[in-house]
Amino acid sequence: MLVHFRKIIEKTKRALGAFDTFNFEITRGIIEGAVQEKSSIIVQITPKTMEYAGTETITQIIKSIADNQGRGIEIALHLDHGRTLEEVKQCIALGFSSVMIDASNKSFKDNIRLTKEAVKYAHHHNVFVQAELGVVGRGKKDYQKMILSPEEFLTDPDQAQEFVKKTKVDTLAIAIGNVHGHYKMEKGAPKLFLSVLEEIKKKIDIPLVLHGASGIAAGQIKQAINLGIKIINIDTEIRMAFKKALKKSLKDQKKELDPRKILAPTIEEVKKVVRNKIKIFNQ
Ligand code: 13P
Repeated sequence: MLVHFRKIIEKTKRALGAFDTFNFEITRGIIEGAVQEKSSIIVQITPKTMEYAGTETITQIIKSIADNQGRGIEIALHLDHGRTLEEVKQCIALGFSSVMIDASNKSFKDNIRLTKEAVKYAHHHNVFVQAELGVVGRGKKDYQKMILSPEEFLTDPDQAQEFVKKTKVDTLAIAIGNVHGHYKMEKGAPKLFLSVLEEIKKKIDIPLVLHGASGIAAGQIKQAINLGIKIINIDTEIRMAFKKALKKSLKDQKKELDPRKILAPTIEEVKKVVRNKIKIFNQ
């Protein structure tokens, strides 16, 4: 069942999983996995998925699966890494209860300016806003740079305090050594700078979001939750499970022409990833 973001974030004792979806099968896997764990979740899409699937189409798919297969649990719909006010407005018009405006690649001043505009519009429509401060890099180059000079990436606790005060944002994605994408899955996820998280938490009192959480060791995730992380984003591990299951399915059923039989195993594998993550996030 789809509910407002506020409803599940307020109730969460440990941390909520926020899972990126792309299509029907992955959405089924995410929602059915959460149903099996009897857990609330966030289902989210990025602007690239909006372009690929059509925003209204993918939104209707998520809503329909949430109302049918996901009847027993509470699910919030979120825009992940929104780049423009137009994208934010489009999602709000379709019933999203939370949107991210990611201006972390801009200057501190411009990040504040754009986030403030998004907050003004979203709050007027009773929608939560997530912003990002610091740099959660992506890909090989960022991963290597992060390892060598993490200070260029990490969120500054004083800036975080000023940012939240000035923008009135509802949730904040922070950079504490986390990196997006699959490169870190090959090389090993970097260790989180938990002392930076501790400092940030002392200065601000809104839910903190950990992006780039695929591949981060369960122990590190649990420590981060203990220190104040409330929402954890997972994308790469879902993509990997989908691809691996599809490859195996095509190999195992070389003569099969029924797309339902070919794609069914992808739902099951996504479900497994989601169940495992939820178990870690709820412990
Ligand atoms: P991963 O690439 O580690 O799965 O991170 C996902 C994410 O942060 C989406 O916003």
